[in-house]
Parts: sequence; C-alpha cells; structure tokens
Amino acid sequence: MRNRVKWIIADEGNIMQGLDLEKIKNEAKEEIEKAGDEAALAFVNKKYLDNDGILGKFFKSLGRLPKEERGGAGAAANEFKRNLTAMLAAKVEELAGDSDNSKKADFFDPTLPGACPKVGHLHPFTLLEREIAEIFGNMGFEIVESREIENEWYNFDALNVPKDHPARDVFDTLYLEDGSLLRPHTSPGQVRYMENHQPPLRIIVPGRVFRRDAVDASHMPNFYQVEGLMVDKDVSVANFKAVIGEFFARFFGDDNRGGKNKVKAENSLRLRPSFFPFTEPSFEVDLRCVNCGGKGCSACKGTGWMEVMGAGMVHPNVLKNSGVDPDCWQGFAFGIGLDRLAMIKHKINDIRLFYGGDQRFLNQF
Ligand code: PHE
Repeated sequence: MRNRVKWIIADEGNIMQGLDLEKIKNEAKEEIEKAGDEAALAFVNKKYLDNDGILGKFFKSLGRLPKEERGGAGAAANEFKRNLTAMLAAKVEELAGDSDNSKKADFFDPTLPGACPKVGHLHPFTLLEREIAEIFGNMGFEIVESREIENEWYNFDALNVPKDHPARDVFDTLYLEDGSLLRPHTSPGQVRYMENHQPPLRIIVPGRVFRRDAVDASHMPNFYQVEGLMVDKDVSVANFKAVIGEFFARFFGDDNRGGKNKVKAENSLRLRPSFFPFTEPSFEVDLRCVNCGGKGCSACKGTGWMEVMGAGMVHPNVLKNSGVDPDCWQGFAFGIGLDRLAMIKHKINDIRLFYGGDQRFLNQF
C-alpha cells in the first residue's frame, strides 16, 4: 500500500520525521471538518500546502529519497495534495452557503412581518397648494396655471409698473439672456388670463416665483404664491373681505385649536393701506394671530396680527392692458405667500427647513 509507506522529510538539510500520508490525511480531514470560518481554513491550507508547510517540505526533500522510491512518493503526495485542495474548496463553499442563508431560503415563514417598502409623499407646499385650491375651488374659483418664465410686458408694463418706477426694485429678479425673466410674482397670470377670458371671472393662480433675495429665516430666492382675481360688474372691497375671511376660516378652522382662537370669517382680517402699481386702492392683509387669537404672542411679535398677503382693487390700467373694459368691470386681486402660510399653519419659524430636503423634517407632514 503506497500511502502506508513512511517517507522521510527533511528540513534545512536535517532529517526531521517520517511522513505517514494516511495519518496526515486523516488529521487534515478532521481539521477541515472542525474549521468554523475562512480564517481557520486558511490556517489549514497554510499548514499543509504552503511552500514551507508539511507537503512543501516533503516535495523539497524528495531528491534525498532513493531513486526507486521517488516516483511513488511523488505521485502519492500529489494525490494527497489534490484531495486536500478539493476538501478545502468544498468546505469554503459550505461556509459561504451558511452565511448567505441560501440553504435556508426555501423555508418560508408566513408569520414573519413583511418588508415594508419606503413610500415618499408630496411636499408640504404641494399639499397646502392643493388644500388652498380646493377651498377656492369650492367657492367657485377656477385654478389656473401661468408661466414661470415671463417677459417685461406681463411682469411690469401690463401691470401698470412704469419703466423707471422704484416698484420694479421690489420685484427685482433673475433675467435671462434673451431679455425674459423669472417671474417675481404670480400677478402676470392675471393679465394672461384676462387676455383670453372676459369677466365675470374668478381664478386663483398658484405657482413658483423668484426674487433676488438673500437667504434668511424668512426669505428664499425661490418661493411660492397663490394669486387671486375676481372681476365682475360690481365686485367691491367688501366682497374681498368676505371671500378671504371665509377662506381663512376654512383654512385654519379645522386646525384643532378650536374654541376662542378659532379663525372666524367675520373678524379675523385687518386691511392696512399699502401700495402696488397694479391695484388701487391697495392694502396689506393681516390675519388675527392664529396662535394667540389676537392677545399678542411670540408668533405675532406681540401685535396680535400676522401679515399674510398683499391685495387691492384691480387698477383700471391693468384691465385695459388685458383687453377688459374698466368702465364695465371691476374687481379685486390678491397675492398670498404660500411659504408664509405654511409656516403659520405648521408653526415653523425657519423657511429654509422646507427647502432643505431633510427627510426627518419632511416626513412629519
Ligand atoms: N404681486 C404682489 C406681490 O408679490 C401681491 C399682490 C397681488 C398685490 C395682487 C396686490 C394684488 O407682492
């Protein structure tokens, strides 16, 4: 029996020990079986197969064997090497199989909870825009889109803003190379709509606007507005107050504050004189503080009021420029800052949070 023969292996020229291949093979087999991870297998591999491992040393000392024995010893050692390599490879595969659970994959446990896919949702501004559109929609307003890239005519001239008027500074924006501009307000939407629609009309124009504003807790160079326009035979400021009062009552009314702080359509608004070239008279609209009900708190800086929009009666020149006869028709227009409304509604004191894309913030809406 070839494997039973004891050969001599030498180390650095010295005769070290006899090599019983059968015995070594059994030892190696046992070590491989016991190995629990790849590091243990690498150790076995090194111990037997490395250049200065047991087999390596044996091959090196083959030359010292008597000529007649060399062939048989070499062949037996090679066979041993093949066996060992195969056993190691099989064990490596077995361990890998264990770790990725592929062997267990055919076991299906129907009682385990399912993997819940992450589903995104609409941005809080989009949700608010839809809420606002629904309220106005229920009051008979049509929802209209206008364009974000405008030209000077629709953005300024048609809105009764003369070329050198300082009001242009307020609406300073970003100009494109061809002279068009990113709209700094949604008011051009009034003109574009009236060009194609004669009164009576009731519309809101929600959308994104741009200004050359530096970023701080209440300003972004990109924000959102909702323009409103109602034109009919004798629409007055009283109609404006009624419509907007009703809007706020519906918008904040279900906000869980209930009781005494609940926004009521009748007494929640205050109009202050203001100036816009496209309305006459013009006013700033304040909403009775939805946080304290008007007593004064940090949210309204102690005033009891929150500034929420600019508005006014549409200037006759704007009607004329839009192809509507100001002798027959009149109406009101307003521009709500959507971001501001979102901050009030959700009690957020830094506008930048809405634009930051932080999931921990956005997931709360
Ligand atoms: N466009 C104005 C602004 O952005 C708001 C406004 C709209 C004022 C309509 C009056 C009428 O500030």
